[in-house]
Amino acid sequence: MAEPVSKDPARIAGMFDAIARRYDLLNHLLSAGLDRSWRRRAIQSLRIAGHETLLDVCTGTADVALAASGGGTSGPRVRRTIGVDFAVEMLRIGQRKIRDANGAPSIWLVRGDASLIPLSDRSVDLATIAFGIRNVQEPSRALREIARVLKPGGRLAVLEFGDPYVPGLRELYRWYFRFVLPRVGALVSRHRSAYSYLPASVGSFPLPAAFLAQIRAAGFSEAHADPLTLGIVYLYSARK
Ligand SMILES: C[S@@+](CC[C@H](N)C(=O)[O-])C[C@H]1O[C@@H](n2cnc3c(N)ncnc32)[C@H](O)[C@@H]1O
Repeated sequence: MAEPVSKDPARIAGMFDAIARRYDLLNHLLSAGLDRSWRRRAIQSLRIAGHETLLDVCTGTADVALAASGGGTSGPRVRRTIGVDFAVEMLRIGQRKIRDANGAPSIWLVRGDASLIPLSDRSVDLATIAFGIRNVQEPSRALREIARVLKPGGRLAVLEFGDPYVPGLRELYRWYFRFVLPRVGALVSRHRSAYSYLPASVGSFPLPAAFLAQIRAAGFSEAHADPLTLGIVYLYSARK
């Protein structure tokens, strides 16, 4: 049984604020650059036509928002993206990236909690949450909030870490995830616990079938889970 991990919002926001400056670098380094392709897959699953408003929950440094607005994906771009996160320093870095990519004037970053999204009912067409839901204290509540702000028929894409399904690779990956990643993370981020929290939080996250049940219970249909990179990450897709 996985040990309980504290998801106290102040603690989680403080931790991401503390690592914000090194967050992108560590993401690309520790995933060997695969994180970009995982976000791309999530955006492709939304089947963007070009007129939509996208809500990116737990937006962090705005990589999903930037990719959906055209930086890094081919095909149609959303008309507007609203990124919500409660870690100010993550948002500050995201804001700088948006300014630097001056082709992305259609992204708004807002400080807010995934469990109380500061948007009105049925106000967005699409929603994403990439590597954020496992940090949220009450994931079901956040999913219900996303369902509330989505228009009927709106698509949801969630990315979260999983466990590789190939024997051999699974053991190697677990060793990397539990022993190598926390050490490299601590060294580069200079934060003692943030990168030990990562495997602990993934370990306490429900298995794909159980998380799909939570998505359905929040008011979504057509929910399914697709393993990416042999199950290191899962892409969960659903419609309101
Ligand atoms: C691992 S980062 C992911 C950032 C980004 N989505 C990405 O793909 O790189 C998780 C983010 O979720 C945010 N977060 C966690 N719990 C949250 C909550 N309850 N409400 C808002 N943001 C939250 C953190 O502040 C952090 O920026």
